[in-house]
Amino acid sequence: MTFHIGAQPGQIADTVLLPGDPYRARWAAERFLEDPVLVSETRGMLGYTGTWEGHRVTIHGTGMGQPSISIYVNELIRDYDAQTLIRVGSCGALQEDVAVRDIVLAQAASTISGPSSTIFREINFAPVADFILLAKAFAAANGKAHVGGILTSDTFYDEREDLSQQLQRHGCLAIEMETAELYTLAARYQRRALSVLTVSDHILTGEALPSDQRESSFAEMIEIALHAAFD
Ligand code: HPA
Repeated sequence: MTFHIGAQPGQIADTVLLPGDPYRARWAAERFLEDPVLVSETRGMLGYTGTWEGHRVTIHGTGMGQPSISIYVNELIRDYDAQTLIRVGSCGALQEDVAVRDIVLAQAASTISGPSSTIFREINFAPVADFILLAKAFAAANGKAHVGGILTSDTFYDEREDLSQQLQRHGCLAIEMETAELYTLAARYQRRALSVLTVSDHILTGEALPSDQRESSFAEMIEIALHAAFD
């Protein structure tokens, strides 16, 4: 047990999938894992461990934003020795050729600030995905994923339109709120990390993923993440 995770030692698998929403963790565990066991429900943040095609997997919620994912990933790595951590989440698209429901594999995640920013002082550290996980996820998506840089923002309701414009101009694919800290922690502790994202909304057009497609797009991400981890 840690401050924020109720699992006993040994109850967290080496491979952890990380949705933001705890109910998505439950849904994915029930749909994809054999014999899923609820291993943590501290503060309502659900975590399940089971097996997928014979491989042990934990699916644990992270909450929204870098401070929240930082707490869970720190404890998953430092206290439970998690080795491979894959975020499965949503993002807002910033490019015209990235459509609602498309898959984005975050190769790198820029950020203005995050829980780790202060330790780098004047360095703009570039948090990157694990290359092998990224390559395997791209193969699992049959090459139909966008691969590139994203922004990890601290705001969902952003007032800085000029910022989105500059990012768009520099090829940034999408905005979400967790990946930079996930990748930074993986770098710090020499673990493997990747973010597999689906486009839930389009920042240029205002289009949003219809609610009847949210479940199937989430399932697609989980499949890609599992194949990336174990193929
Ligand atoms: N901004 C930030 N995070 C997000 C978005 C967005 O538009 N969509 C999904 N996560």
